[in-house]
Amino acid sequence: MTRSRIELGDVTPHNIKLLKKLNTVVFPITYNDKFYVDALYAGELVKLAYYNDIVVGAVCCRIDTTENKRRLYIMTLGCLLPYRRLGIGTIMFLHVLNYVENDGNFDSIFLHVQINNDGALEFYKKFGFEIVETHKHYYKCIESTDAFVLEKTVTNEKPPDHAHSNGHTEKAEKKT
Ligand SMILES: CC(C)(COP(=O)(O)OP(=O)(O)OC[C@H]1O[C@@H](n2cnc3c(N)ncnc32)[C@H](O)[C@@H]1OP(=O)(O)O)[C@@H](O)C(=O)NCCC(=O)NCCS
Repeated sequence: MTRSRIELGDVTPHNIKLLKKLNTVVFPITYNDKFYVDALYAGELVKLAYYNDIVVGAVCCRIDTTENKRRLYIMTLGCLLPYRRLGIGTIMFLHVLNYVENDGNFDSIFLHVQINNDGALEFYKKFGFEIVETHKHYYKCIESTDAFVLEKTVTNEKPPDHAHSNGHTEKAEKKT
């Protein structure tokens, strides 16, 4: 049997519509045009995930310097429903973690998750995230408006490379 191949690729003007389509399908929130313009210039902070050459996931992060800290904020990290529990979310998260660890100058990684999103909560808890806050009415115009803030403190000790730890490959090259 052929082994499945999971790769990460850059977002470019040629495939930015795929990122938009994917986020529209995966998340209940609509992101504005600025989100997608910024995504084009975000380098390693924004990636598409490919499963056997098909775009099935994406991660979008930004650097947050509020509260006198330098933190990585995960804006979106998601995968199409039929492709979940195949390790694609893990590959995207480990990419983010590698970025943060290689940079060596982040205090933590954080994100908001809807309080009823049990799957995402399990996913992030697996990677050592903790609920640090509850934001009442964080989301507008969706059914469940409350969000947990999840955060993982970063130690800034250079670790071994995680990227190939589970047999999948991660390619940073451009795919169009
Ligand atoms: C959260 C999400 C990104 C996980 O992606 P994924 O590709 O399914 O994750 P993985 O296959 O790498 O899962 C890794 C581990 O996380 C945990 N996990 C992931 N989804 C889970 C679920 N629905 N229930 C319980 N545990 C879960 C499991 O421990 C899993 O390991 P296992 O499959 O060996 O048991 C995916 O469910 C998703 O896209 N959800 C919608 C978008 C979203 O809510 N994103 C979070 C906010 S940014």
